[in-house]
Amino acid sequence: MSEQKYLNLNNGLRMPIIGYGTWMASEEEINTAVNEALKVGYRHIDTAPVYLNEKAIGNVLTKWFSSGKIKRSDLFITTKLPSPGADRPDLVELTLRKSLADLQLDYVDLYLIHTPITVVVDEKGAFKHHEDGTVIVDPSTDLVAIWKEMEGLVAKGLTKSIGISNFTIKQIDRILQNCTIKPAVLQIEYHIYLQQPELIEFCKSANIAVTAYSPLGSKGVGTLNKRAGVERELPDLLDVPVVKEIAQNHSKSEAQVLLRWIVQKGISVIPKSTNPKRMYENKNIFDFKLRAEEMEQLNSLDANIRVVNFSFFPGVEKHPEFPF
Ligand SMILES: NC(=O)c1ccc[n+]([C@@H]2O[C@H](COP(=O)([O-])OP(=O)(O)OC[C@H]3O[C@@H](n4cnc5c(N)ncnc54)[C@H](OP(=O)(O)O)[C@@H]3O)[C@@H](O)[C@H]2O)c1
Repeated sequence: MSEQKYLNLNNGLRMPIIGYGTWMASEEEINTAVNEALKVGYRHIDTAPVYLNEKAIGNVLTKWFSSGKIKRSDLFITTKLPSPGADRPDLVELTLRKSLADLQLDYVDLYLIHTPITVVVDEKGAFKHHEDGTVIVDPSTDLVAIWKEMEGLVAKGLTKSIGISNFTIKQIDRILQNCTIKPAVLQIEYHIYLQQPELIEFCKSANIAVTAYSPLGSKGVGTLNKRAGVERELPDLLDVPVVKEIAQNHSKSEAQVLLRWIVQKGISVIPKSTNPKRMYENKNIFDFKLRAEEMEQLNSLDANIRVVNFSFFPGVEKHPEFPF
């Protein structure tokens, strides 16, 4: 099995620095892909109820546990409190319990508030829309009250750690001023074109670990935008000349350079791939090191381009806690 590296969390636990992302993969794909990911050596898996694959992941994990090839304690599983409808204090525990049932687990290692915004849903969980097609937001979101419930989940042993995703400095600070348990992790979009130095510095000073989502630029967002009728040109991070040149210097792939650059900064990454060769490639980035000048070249590419800006849910930007 390939080498594991970890980030130490502020609660004394550790999280494998490379995780396996599972967004935009169908249940069928996930079945094969998670199995392959475990074979390749991933021990950290990132999911969420809105990815509609927790059941499939649960089936794969159960098979591995019963084969004796892996123990629960070998894995770091993250799932999230979904913003559509469930990020209300009275729904927090119920929602995690549903995820645990689907994942066939007694606990997760990390439970994140998926976003700081709440959307109104119907009884089947589908978004409700205004006549003009925009989603109906629920402006009553109370992040501190939700966080109190998240803390209760740790006390009940349903999750080992709690954290947040897509939060701003102000929102994190509000949690920090009103918490008993500090967030262990902030999960945000992070790559060469979106570096958010103030947010990263803030987390460092507050001892909150950062996980980079969409580290390769998330091609899946293009599909969602198209479905929502949103026209948006997205950058191809794998086709940036500097990245290509550095990849050539090290005889590595462009993806490996993009991921190594993040990990070398002490930030965790959760690339998604359903292709076994690329899964292997993304996990194996510890046999080379980027030189200081190469790190600088990549740092200088920051362009404040956010790929996952939720444009595929027109209307969410009206929520008072909209973070972008
Ligand atoms: N908290 C949040 O709000 C949030 C938001 C977005 C994502 N996430 C999490 O972060 C994970 C990763 O982000 P993401 O899925 O948006 O995007 P990503 O990992 O940046 O990119 C995934 C895309 O890159 C391709 N790819 C993967 N490895 C490659 C390689 N070595 N060479 C070339 N192409 C490669 C994949 O295609 P193939 O599958 O065909 O290889 C897929 O199309 C998600 O899966 C999810 O778990 C969280």
